[in-house]
Amino acid sequence: MNRAPVAFISGASRGIGAAIALLLAQKGYRLALLARNEADLRSVAAQTRLAATDCLCLVADLQRPADIETAVSRCLAHFGRVDVLINNAGIGHFGPIEKLSLEQFQAQLQVNVVASWLLSKLLLPQMHQRDHGLLINILSDAARRPFAGGSTYCASKFAQDGMFRSLQEELKNSSVKVSNIYPGLVNTYFNNKTPSAPQPNKLEAAEVAVAVWDIIARNGEPSELHISRSH
Ligand SMILES: NC(=O)c1ccc[n+]([C@@H]2O[C@H](COP(=O)([O-])OP(=O)(O)OC[C@H]3O[C@@H](n4cnc5c(N)ncnc54)[C@H](OP(=O)(O)O)[C@@H]3O)[C@@H](O)[C@H]2O)c1
Repeated sequence: MNRAPVAFISGASRGIGAAIALLLAQKGYRLALLARNEADLRSVAAQTRLAATDCLCLVADLQRPADIETAVSRCLAHFGRVDVLINNAGIGHFGPIEKLSLEQFQAQLQVNVVASWLLSKLLLPQMHQRDHGLLINILSDAARRPFAGGSTYCASKFAQDGMFRSLQEELKNSSVKVSNIYPGLVNTYFNNKTPSAPQPNKLEAAEVAVAVWDIIARNGEPSELHISRSH
């Protein structure tokens, strides 16, 4: 029986999620990688397999609860367990409220808030059964810092912050830990950007991945981590 731990990473086709996948593969983790873009997901999986990692690609749209349920079932059928859930996937719609559509706001809440709630709900029972597990949530400094043009993004990140801090309270007597990371700007594809040469005011995705690894290595400590170059 393969005893290597298993991490489930949402939004693993690029950016921060892909960087976490590559680092955890090097650390000996088996991986379930979720995103919509199958080609990008398979490219990340091919890189993780260079570290001989068993890597499962889960093509799913986090706006569809049925996709999420199917992805979790496939993951548990394949690996039998998940030790670490990394709620990383996220989108950002920015601008004055008059310029944003209701559909954008709903998508924002669905991907960032509802999907991370549902993934946690579906993966927690098998963690409780084994009395072991860790949820790491990639939030944002925007989870505590309102700004002009951030009405939808901040609504989603403030909501995630309240949700996962409540979950910390709910699980405080359990062996399952919840840790939240609040990055400042990161050099990724987020908000239709393309990663550029390193910039003085932005973190690199690999630095966020190292922060994730440090939390795993310390079994969920700290429960709240703020990392930034922008302030
Ligand atoms: N970049 C920053 O400055 C920054 C700062 C603070 C916090 N964050 C947070 O960091 C997290 C990761 O962002 P990133 O910077 O790595 O952005 P990114 O490069 O745009 O990556 C986003 C990931 O989420 C996935 N995703 C988006 N919509 C999805 C959907 N409907 N279903 C399934 N997967 C979906 C994307 O995959 P597909 O397109 O293939 O589906 C992609 O893998 C987000 O939660 C973001 O809010 C980012």
